[in-house]
Amino acid sequence: MALQQSSIVRCQSPCRMFRSPLVARRLASQNPRRWTRSLSQLNSVTEADLAHFSQILPPAAILSTLSAASAADLEPFNNDWMNKYHGRSTTVLRPRTTQEVSAIVKHCSERRIGIVPQGGNTGLVGGSVPINDELVLSLGNMNSVRSFDDASGILVADAGCILQSLSDFLLPHDHVVPLDLGAKGSCQIGGNVSTNAGGLRLLRYGSLHGSVLGLEVVLPDGSILDQLTALRKDNTGYDLKQLFIGAEGTLGIVTGVSILTAAAPQASNNMMLALPTFSNVLPLYKEVKRQLAEILSAFEFIDRRAYDLAVKHGQGRALDEADVEGADCFVLVETSGSNREHDEQKLNKLLEDLMEQEPSLINTGVLATSPAQFSSLWAIREGLTESVGKEGKAYKYDISVPQDKFKEVLDITRDHLASKGLMHDQAVKHVVGYGHVGDGNLHLNVVADAYTPEIEAALEPFVYELVAKYQGSISAEHGIGVMKTHALPYSKNALSIEWMKKVKNLFDPKGIMNPGKVFEL
Ligand code: FAD
Ligand code: MLT
Ligand code: ZN
Repeated sequence: MALQQSSIVRCQSPCRMFRSPLVARRLASQNPRRWTRSLSQLNSVTEADLAHFSQILPPAAILSTLSAASAADLEPFNNDWMNKYHGRSTTVLRPRTTQEVSAIVKHCSERRIGIVPQGGNTGLVGGSVPINDELVLSLGNMNSVRSFDDASGILVADAGCILQSLSDFLLPHDHVVPLDLGAKGSCQIGGNVSTNAGGLRLLRYGSLHGSVLGLEVVLPDGSILDQLTALRKDNTGYDLKQLFIGAEGTLGIVTGVSILTAAAPQASNNMMLALPTFSNVLPLYKEVKRQLAEILSAFEFIDRRAYDLAVKHGQGRALDEADVEGADCFVLVETSGSNREHDEQKLNKLLEDLMEQEPSLINTGVLATSPAQFSSLWAIREGLTESVGKEGKAYKYDISVPQDKFKEVLDITRDHLASKGLMHDQAVKHVVGYGHVGDGNLHLNVVADAYTPEIEAALEPFVYELVAKYQGSISAEHGIGVMKTHALPYSKNALSIEWMKKVKNLFDPKGIMNPGKVFEL
């Protein structure tokens, strides 16, 4: 069952309107300890290596500037989604089977060649592209569903399956992948697992640490760790697969994923609410949770500036201009249930109550009344990353902080940049925020005219120290990649890092797996 890439459906129809009557935790001063392995201990791919790879793979699966490919052919693999991180790999290999991956890795281990596993290359922390000239191992050709059991809901798939393709596959089986994100048209399930992606419905389905049941992983010596169990329960000692979830390709290459999918909701609704002030977000969240309870599946926050950027860059408009006026921020609420009538009743009651409240928590609400409107509301939220990218160069901080501090973090960061004289069109154009309220995950985006050392120096360690002051996390869901290796100690204590390094060394003593990611070189 080979799967094809598919695109995300977007629609922008108007919807039904509702109107209301109206200290650093630790460290900070310490310099992070450095990880001593150097890329110079690794070897570059040579023509002899290519000759070896050509015994493993067909010619079409090898792309190398050492043979017929041009540098332009390699560009999509050497540059990340944001065009912020750039590698200079000479060679991309695209295996189709786990055995081929194993043979490639075995050779790289013997020759000490660095490997960067690459999925959809949609990661936002520079983890998926080489730092130097490491070999890129692209999983895109491993795109088959291996099995699906519609009684248990257990899906076993190749790591290179695109997330949207898996959703499309499950549709006629009345199941859904327990993960959804704006990059679904390109990101791969192996990449999702390797970043422990959170996404838009973690509130409903929980993290991949819970829904992934098993993995098949090619270890850094080329051996195949088969933990592809399709068991819901398996308490036989250490749960090794958990180590690879969120390891960002530093411990091995995920080649197969067994995941517990969920029964497809029979009724899905969503609505966009405009709020007069950020301080209403949490009281609203509590009320929404109280009233919608088991049918609530998403509660997403968008600040006014982020919303305006989405509209400006063509991601649609959920509310009329008059209704947007006076809004400080927006919340997208989604329900997923099994009885349309029951769910609509609950939503309508919630909206009525919100509108009758005095003072009201919301200015306006838009309830989608058709699938097209449903997609249109989601398009605004899912299009934020792209809008920010179209507006300028984004410094993206994906942080966990207490939910009531989202606005404070945005304001403090904006004020700090202003105090450095950087809040103007030729430097920082906007500081915008959006995120997953239910998960305490704020996406702080500093949108600049260009990536410059001056802006970076103003932001770091400032932002990380701020996060540490709130006892938060410097990476809620995007990972460490290359972007945050130096900042790891802001969220992990010394003993934790020491043990993480021991684990890395145990699996990958030669340091060939995604060197320079998670830990500094
Ligand atoms: P890649 O970007 O290719 O790789 C990411 C990391 O995983 C790299 O370190 C890479 O080496 C490693 N890796 C990839 N495949 C494998 C494998 N098979 N085995 C071992 N290691 C591997 N993230 C969220 O968490 N939530 C969101 O809501 C979200 N929304 C996004 C929206 C947009 C528009 C974009 C561009 C990104 C978004 N992201 C989000 C970030 C990104 O999409 C996720 O991190 C995603 O899980 C990455 O998958 P990928 O296949 O593109 O992986
Ligand atoms: C999101 O929630 O939209 C993603 O994590 C991507 C981003 O932070 O831009
Ligand atoms: Zn996110």
